[in-house]
Amino acid sequence: MDKPSVFRGMFIHNSANADIRDASKGMAAEFNIALLPELPDTGIYLNIDNSGAGLCDTSSPKQAPVKAEFVSPEMQYRLKKSGAKSELIMRAIGNKQGPCNVIDATPGLGRDAMVMANFGCQVTMLERSPAVAVILADGLRQLQQLSSDLRSNLSLYCDDSIHTLNEKDLKNKGLNLPDVVYLDPMFPHRKKSALVKKEMQLFQRLLGHDPDADVLFNAAMKVAKKRVVVKRPNTAEPLDNQKPNLTIDSKKHRFDVYLTG
Ligand SMILES: C[S@@+](CC[C@H](N)C(=O)[O-])C[C@H]1O[C@@H](n2cnc3c(N)ncnc32)[C@H](O)[C@@H]1O
Repeated sequence: MDKPSVFRGMFIHNSANADIRDASKGMAAEFNIALLPELPDTGIYLNIDNSGAGLCDTSSPKQAPVKAEFVSPEMQYRLKKSGAKSELIMRAIGNKQGPCNVIDATPGLGRDAMVMANFGCQVTMLERSPAVAVILADGLRQLQQLSSDLRSNLSLYCDDSIHTLNEKDLKNKGLNLPDVVYLDPMFPHRKKSALVKKEMQLFQRLLGHDPDADVLFNAAMKVAKKRVVVKRPNTAEPLDNQKPNLTIDSKKHRFDVYLTG
Protein backbone atom coordinates (compact mmCIF):
# COMPACT_ATOMS: atom_id res chain seq x y z
CA MET A 1 0.00 0.00 0.00
CA ASP A 2 1.30 3.53 -0.74
CA LYS A 3 2.80 5.12 2.37
CA PRO A 4 0.68 8.25 3.00
CA SER A 5 3.72 10.00 4.49
CA VAL A 6 5.63 9.53 1.19
CA PHE A 7 3.03 9.60 -1.62
CA ARG A 8 1.85 13.14 -2.43
CA GLY A 9 -0.67 12.59 -5.23
CA MET A 10 -1.01 13.29 -8.97
CA PHE A 11 0.27 16.32 -10.85
CA ILE A 12 -1.16 16.83 -14.36
CA HIS A 13 0.94 19.11 -16.58
CA ASN A 14 -0.93 21.76 -18.55
CA SER A 15 0.62 20.37 -21.72
CA ALA A 16 -1.09 16.96 -21.27
CA ASN A 17 -3.64 16.36 -24.00
CA ALA A 18 -7.34 16.15 -23.23
CA ASP A 19 -7.55 12.32 -23.47
CA ILE A 20 -4.66 11.74 -21.05
CA ARG A 21 -5.93 14.49 -18.75
CA ASP A 22 -9.46 13.03 -18.60
CA ALA A 23 -8.26 9.44 -18.16
CA SER A 24 -5.89 10.51 -15.36
CA LYS A 25 -8.51 12.54 -13.55
CA GLY A 26 -10.85 9.54 -13.78
CA MET A 27 -8.24 7.25 -12.22
CA ALA A 28 -7.43 9.79 -9.49
CA ALA A 29 -11.13 9.91 -8.57
CA GLU A 30 -11.52 6.11 -8.75
CA PHE A 31 -8.43 5.34 -6.66
CA ASN A 32 -8.84 8.27 -4.26
CA ILE A 33 -5.62 10.01 -5.31
CA ALA A 34 -5.24 13.73 -4.54
CA LEU A 35 -4.82 16.07 -7.54
CA LEU A 36 -1.88 18.41 -6.85
CA PRO A 37 -2.14 22.08 -7.92
CA GLU A 38 1.67 22.30 -8.29
CA LEU A 39 4.75 20.08 -8.30
CA PRO A 40 5.49 18.93 -4.73
CA ASP A 41 8.81 19.75 -2.99
CA THR A 42 9.06 16.46 -1.13
CA GLY A 43 7.98 12.85 -1.46
CA ILE A 44 6.91 10.78 -4.46
CA TYR A 45 4.21 11.82 -6.92
CA LEU A 46 2.51 10.70 -10.13
CA ASN A 47 3.59 12.88 -13.03
CA ILE A 48 1.15 13.10 -15.95
CA ASP A 49 2.21 14.57 -19.28
CA ASN A 50 1.86 13.67 -22.95
CA SER A 51 4.17 10.69 -22.51
CA GLY A 52 1.70 9.27 -19.97
CA ALA A 53 1.93 8.49 -16.25
CA GLY A 54 5.19 8.05 -14.34
CA LEU A 55 6.26 7.97 -10.71
CA CYS A 56 8.77 10.66 -9.70
CA ASP A 57 10.84 10.96 -6.55
CA THR A 58 11.57 14.56 -5.55
CA SER A 59 14.80 13.38 -3.88
CA SER A 60 16.12 12.13 -7.28
CA PRO A 61 14.99 14.93 -9.63
CA LYS A 62 17.25 13.75 -12.48
CA GLN A 63 15.82 10.23 -12.51
CA ALA A 64 13.40 9.52 -15.36
CA PRO A 65 9.80 8.89 -14.24
CA VAL A 66 9.22 5.21 -13.42
CA LYS A 67 6.65 3.78 -15.83
CA ALA A 68 5.03 0.43 -16.49
CA GLU A 69 7.18 -1.74 -18.72
CA PHE A 70 4.68 -2.99 -21.31
CA VAL A 71 5.93 -0.83 -24.18
CA SER A 72 9.47 0.04 -23.05
CA PRO A 73 12.29 -0.54 -25.61
CA GLU A 74 13.92 -3.00 -23.14
CA MET A 75 10.73 -5.06 -22.98
CA GLN A 76 10.23 -4.99 -26.75
CA TYR A 77 13.84 -6.20 -27.21
CA ARG A 78 13.39 -8.95 -24.60
CA LEU A 79 10.19 -10.21 -26.23
CA LYS A 80 11.78 -10.21 -29.67
CA LYS A 81 14.82 -12.19 -28.54
CA SER A 82 13.34 -14.58 -26.02
CA GLY A 83 11.63 -17.89 -26.59
CA ALA A 84 9.35 -19.69 -24.15
CA LYS A 85 12.22 -22.09 -23.42
CA SER A 86 14.69 -19.35 -22.49
CA GLU A 87 12.20 -17.49 -20.27
CA LEU A 88 12.49 -19.35 -16.97
CA ILE A 89 9.22 -17.83 -15.80
CA MET A 90 7.41 -19.75 -18.55
CA ARG A 91 8.93 -23.03 -17.37
CA ALA A 92 8.02 -22.14 -13.80
CA ILE A 93 4.33 -21.55 -14.61
CA GLY A 94 4.17 -24.84 -16.55
CA ASN A 95 3.50 -23.32 -19.94
CA LYS A 96 4.60 -26.53 -21.70
CA GLN A 97 1.06 -27.84 -21.28
CA GLY A 98 -0.25 -24.80 -23.19
CA PRO A 99 -0.99 -21.18 -22.25
CA CYS A 100 -2.66 -20.85 -18.90
CA ASN A 101 -4.85 -18.51 -16.99
CA VAL A 102 -2.68 -16.60 -14.48
CA ILE A 103 -3.38 -14.17 -11.67
CA ASP A 104 -0.34 -11.97 -11.14
CA ALA A 105 -1.08 -10.99 -7.54
CA THR A 106 1.93 -8.62 -7.28
CA PRO A 107 2.27 -7.02 -10.75
CA GLY A 108 4.45 -3.96 -9.95
CA LEU A 109 5.77 -2.57 -13.24
CA GLY A 110 4.13 -5.39 -15.19
CA ARG A 111 7.33 -6.97 -16.59
CA ASP A 112 6.55 -10.54 -15.60
CA ALA A 113 2.88 -10.13 -16.53
CA MET A 114 3.90 -8.91 -19.98
CA VAL A 115 6.22 -11.87 -20.60
CA MET A 116 3.46 -14.34 -19.65
CA ALA A 117 0.91 -12.50 -21.81
CA ASN A 118 3.34 -12.51 -24.73
CA PHE A 119 3.35 -16.31 -24.69
CA GLY A 120 -0.45 -16.44 -24.81
CA CYS A 121 -1.38 -16.58 -21.12
CA GLN A 122 -4.46 -14.68 -19.97
CA VAL A 123 -3.04 -12.59 -17.15
CA THR A 124 -5.13 -10.78 -14.53
CA MET A 125 -3.12 -8.27 -12.52
CA LEU A 126 -4.23 -7.39 -8.99
CA GLU A 127 -2.18 -4.42 -7.73
CA ARG A 128 -2.91 -2.91 -4.32
CA SER A 129 -0.97 0.34 -4.67
CA PRO A 130 -3.21 2.95 -6.35
CA ALA A 131 -0.11 4.86 -7.55
CA VAL A 132 1.32 1.73 -9.20
CA ALA A 133 -2.12 0.81 -10.59
CA VAL A 134 -2.22 4.18 -12.37
CA ILE A 135 1.10 3.58 -14.16
CA LEU A 136 -0.02 0.03 -15.07
CA ALA A 137 -3.33 1.35 -16.46
CA ASP A 138 -1.46 3.95 -18.46
CA GLY A 139 0.94 1.27 -19.75
CA LEU A 140 -2.05 -0.78 -20.92
CA ARG A 141 -3.43 2.28 -22.72
CA GLN A 142 -0.14 2.59 -24.60
CA LEU A 143 0.04 -1.16 -25.29
CA GLN A 144 -3.41 -1.00 -26.91
CA GLN A 145 -1.92 1.35 -29.52
CA LEU A 146 0.99 -1.04 -30.17
CA SER A 147 -0.78 -4.41 -30.12
CA SER A 148 -4.45 -4.82 -29.30
CA ASP A 149 -3.97 -8.64 -29.36
CA LEU A 150 -1.40 -8.55 -26.58
CA ARG A 151 -3.43 -5.96 -24.69
CA SER A 152 -6.40 -8.32 -24.73
CA ASN A 153 -4.36 -10.91 -22.79
CA LEU A 154 -3.99 -8.53 -19.84
CA SER A 155 -6.47 -7.12 -17.35
CA LEU A 156 -5.96 -4.98 -14.25
CA TYR A 157 -7.73 -4.39 -10.93
CA CYS A 158 -6.59 -2.11 -8.13
CA ASP A 159 -7.15 -4.40 -5.15
CA ASP A 160 -5.34 -6.17 -2.35
CA SER A 161 -4.81 -9.73 -3.54
CA ILE A 162 -5.01 -11.00 0.03
CA HIS A 163 -8.68 -9.97 0.07
CA THR A 164 -9.45 -10.89 -3.53
CA LEU A 165 -7.92 -14.37 -3.80
CA ASN A 166 -11.02 -16.31 -2.80
CA GLU A 167 -13.71 -17.91 -4.95
CA LYS A 168 -16.46 -15.42 -4.04
CA ASP A 169 -14.50 -12.22 -4.73
CA LEU A 170 -13.02 -13.59 -7.94
CA LYS A 171 -16.51 -14.58 -9.10
CA ASN A 172 -17.82 -11.10 -8.27
CA LYS A 173 -15.20 -9.75 -10.66
CA GLY A 174 -16.29 -12.27 -13.31
CA LEU A 175 -13.03 -14.22 -12.89
CA ASN A 176 -12.59 -18.00 -12.85
CA LEU A 177 -10.24 -19.74 -10.45
CA PRO A 178 -6.77 -19.32 -12.01
CA ASP A 179 -4.54 -22.17 -13.16
CA VAL A 180 -1.58 -20.30 -11.69
CA VAL A 181 -1.09 -17.57 -9.10
CA TYR A 182 2.21 -15.74 -9.60
CA LEU A 183 3.86 -13.85 -6.72
CA ASP A 184 6.87 -11.52 -6.66
CA PRO A 185 6.55 -9.55 -3.42
CA MET A 186 8.92 -6.76 -2.45
CA PHE A 187 12.00 -7.91 -0.62
CA PRO A 188 14.01 -5.75 1.82
CA HIS A 189 17.21 -5.09 -0.18
CA ARG A 190 20.23 -3.47 1.45
CA LYS A 191 19.59 0.24 1.12
CA LYS A 192 22.57 1.73 -0.63
CA SER A 193 23.47 -1.33 -2.68
CA ALA A 194 24.43 -0.36 -6.22
CA LEU A 195 22.68 -3.54 -7.30
CA VAL A 196 19.31 -2.17 -6.24
CA LYS A 197 18.07 -0.27 -9.27
CA LYS A 198 16.80 3.29 -8.83
CA GLU A 199 13.27 2.21 -9.69
CA MET A 200 13.35 -0.47 -6.99
CA GLN A 201 14.59 2.12 -4.48
CA LEU A 202 11.61 4.32 -5.39
CA PHE A 203 9.28 1.32 -4.95
CA GLN A 204 10.81 0.52 -1.57
CA ARG A 205 10.35 4.12 -0.43
CA LEU A 206 6.77 4.22 -1.71
CA LEU A 207 5.58 0.76 -0.66
CA GLY A 208 7.91 -0.72 1.97
CA HIS A 209 8.65 -4.43 1.70
CA ASP A 210 5.33 -6.34 1.74
CA PRO A 211 5.58 -7.81 5.26
CA ASP A 212 2.32 -9.73 4.70
CA ALA A 213 3.71 -11.80 1.81
CA ASP A 214 3.27 -15.06 3.79
CA VAL A 215 -0.45 -14.34 4.20
CA LEU A 216 -0.70 -13.65 0.47
CA PHE A 217 1.09 -16.92 -0.27
CA ASN A 218 -1.43 -18.91 1.78
CA ALA A 219 -4.37 -17.17 0.08
CA ALA A 220 -2.81 -18.02 -3.31
CA MET A 221 -2.41 -21.70 -2.36
CA LYS A 222 -6.18 -21.94 -1.74
CA VAL A 223 -7.27 -20.75 -5.20
CA ALA A 224 -4.61 -21.85 -7.70
CA LYS A 225 -5.89 -24.89 -9.64
CA LYS A 226 -2.43 -26.03 -10.78
CA ARG A 227 0.39 -24.11 -9.15
CA VAL A 228 1.64 -21.13 -7.20
CA VAL A 229 4.91 -19.67 -8.44
CA VAL A 230 6.97 -17.35 -6.23
CA LYS A 231 9.92 -15.29 -7.50
CA ARG A 232 12.50 -14.87 -4.72
CA PRO A 233 16.00 -13.42 -4.48
CA ASN A 234 18.51 -16.29 -4.29
CA THR A 235 19.38 -15.43 -0.70
CA ALA A 236 15.78 -15.33 0.59
CA GLU A 237 13.95 -18.03 2.54
CA PRO A 238 10.91 -19.53 0.81
CA LEU A 239 7.65 -17.74 1.64
CA ASP A 240 6.13 -18.93 4.93
CA ASN A 241 9.15 -21.28 5.13
CA GLN A 242 7.23 -23.73 2.93
CA LYS A 243 9.40 -26.04 0.89
CA PRO A 244 8.54 -25.80 -2.83
CA ASN A 245 7.93 -28.87 -4.99
CA LEU A 246 10.55 -27.61 -7.39
CA THR A 247 12.86 -24.66 -7.82
CA ILE A 248 14.15 -23.06 -11.00
CA ASP A 249 17.34 -21.06 -10.45
CA SER A 250 18.71 -18.10 -12.34
CA LYS A 251 21.66 -15.83 -11.54
CA LYS A 252 19.96 -13.36 -9.19
CA HIS A 253 16.71 -15.02 -8.26
CA ARG A 254 14.83 -18.28 -8.32
CA PHE A 255 11.28 -19.42 -8.94
CA ASP A 256 9.77 -21.56 -6.17
CA VAL A 257 7.02 -23.74 -7.63
CA TYR A 258 4.22 -25.21 -5.48
CA LEU A 259 1.96 -27.75 -7.16
CA THR A 260 -1.66 -27.49 -6.06
CA GLY A 261 -3.52 -29.81 -8.41
C1 LIG B 1 8.51 -6.40 -6.59
S1 LIG B 1 7.06 -5.68 -7.23
C2 LIG B 1 6.64 -6.81 -8.52
C3 LIG B 1 7.44 -6.61 -9.79
C4 LIG B 1 6.81 -7.34 -10.96
N1 LIG B 1 6.89 -8.77 -10.83
C5 LIG B 1 7.37 -6.90 -12.29
O1 LIG B 1 7.65 -7.78 -13.13
O2 LIG B 1 7.48 -5.68 -12.55
C6 LIG B 1 5.82 -6.06 -6.02
C7 LIG B 1 4.47 -5.40 -6.28
O3 LIG B 1 3.48 -6.19 -5.63
C8 LIG B 1 2.51 -5.36 -5.05
N2 LIG B 1 1.86 -6.12 -3.96
C9 LIG B 1 2.44 -6.66 -2.87
N3 LIG B 1 1.54 -7.30 -2.10
C10 LIG B 1 0.35 -7.17 -2.74
C11 LIG B 1 -0.98 -7.60 -2.44
N4 LIG B 1 -1.26 -8.26 -1.31
N5 LIG B 1 -1.96 -7.31 -3.32
C12 LIG B 1 -1.68 -6.62 -4.47
N6 LIG B 1 -0.45 -6.15 -4.78
C13 LIG B 1 0.55 -6.43 -3.94
C14 LIG B 1 3.32 -4.17 -4.56
O4 LIG B 1 2.48 -3.04 -4.36
C15 LIG B 1 4.31 -3.99 -5.71
O5 LIG B 1 3.79 -3.15 -6.70
